[in-house]
Amino acid sequence: MDLSAFPRVALGSWPTPLDDAPRLAAALGGPPVLLKRDDVNGLGAGGNKLRKLEFLLGRALADGADTIITFGALQTNHGRQTAAACAKLGLRCELVLTARVPMTGEAYERSGNIVLDHVFGANVHLCADAEETAAAYEKVNHDKAVTLPIGGSNGLGALGYVAAAVELVGQLHDRGIDDALIVVPDGSGATAAGIALGTELLGWPGKVHAASVSHPAAEASQVLRTLCAESAALLGVPEPELAHLTVTDDTVGPGYGVPTPEMWDVLKLFAETEGVLLDPVYTGKAAVKFREIAATSDVPVVFLHTGGLPGFYGYAPEAVARFGSA
Ligand SMILES: Cc1ncc(COP(=O)(O)O)c(C=O)c1O
Repeated sequence: MDLSAFPRVALGSWPTPLDDAPRLAAALGGPPVLLKRDDVNGLGAGGNKLRKLEFLLGRALADGADTIITFGALQTNHGRQTAAACAKLGLRCELVLTARVPMTGEAYERSGNIVLDHVFGANVHLCADAEETAAAYEKVNHDKAVTLPIGGSNGLGALGYVAAAVELVGQLHDRGIDDALIVVPDGSGATAAGIALGTELLGWPGKVHAASVSHPAAEASQVLRTLCAESAALLGVPEPELAHLTVTDDTVGPGYGVPTPEMWDVLKLFAETEGVLLDPVYTGKAAVKFREIAATSDVPVVFLHTGGLPGFYGYAPEAVARFGSA
């Protein structure tokens, strides 16, 4: 696979660390566990979108864009990282966000990611329904604007995680680990799709587990296949089989963005064994699945930490109620 043929801008610090997590592994009582730290990749408080944005914004700049428009929910990490990337590149950033969200309250509605969107200089359009969203989009769209999909998830964005798969497999190989299981949080799909496609193209013998945080597994699985097919077409390689990919949805709980007791427990476990913070929406829920898998796996298990910490502050009242001393 040749990724050098695609225009790309440098946004993150690569490679991200692959850290041993011995105290977490001991607590789980299974094989070695490792944390792939895509939460500490630099720009705009970091996270998984930077790898996608390197390709998406590379293309947009090559096409002469001066404005980037994208979509998401109120607490979108993708929006926040797009805003930061646009700030760095001198692009105008228009975030068309939906106000229909699973949580309410001052922290969720005004803090966390959304306040950072403003800090990074994005224009935020908070829309109550589809009609308002369409109107806001029409108002900001123009000839030199490029529109990115929710979560930066299309075939081009997924190439960022094909590159990540190459990086991660290389890091594992350098440690003498050639068979492992990678657990990935799955939302709009391009992260897990890129990892699944990249590992298959490398002929890697390990497995990939996508833990959905939003959609039913069958739907999420279909989205992953479509994204993989799109990326494969861009790369000029055959559509992947994805026999090494499993998708589950049983750690979503009552819904996307709604905290579960298991999520808070695992978030606490990562924090008190390794000093690593998870977020309540993505990494926290995927880590519930990771905990289950890592307790019984017979090969090392890698948790892909996709970031999202700013979102934690949107849940500050819930976190204080659970962990605060008062
Ligand atoms: C912190 C975090 N982790 C994981 C994901 C899921 O990645 P993807 O949308 O590529 O499936 C997201 C996406 O919004 C995210 O913000």
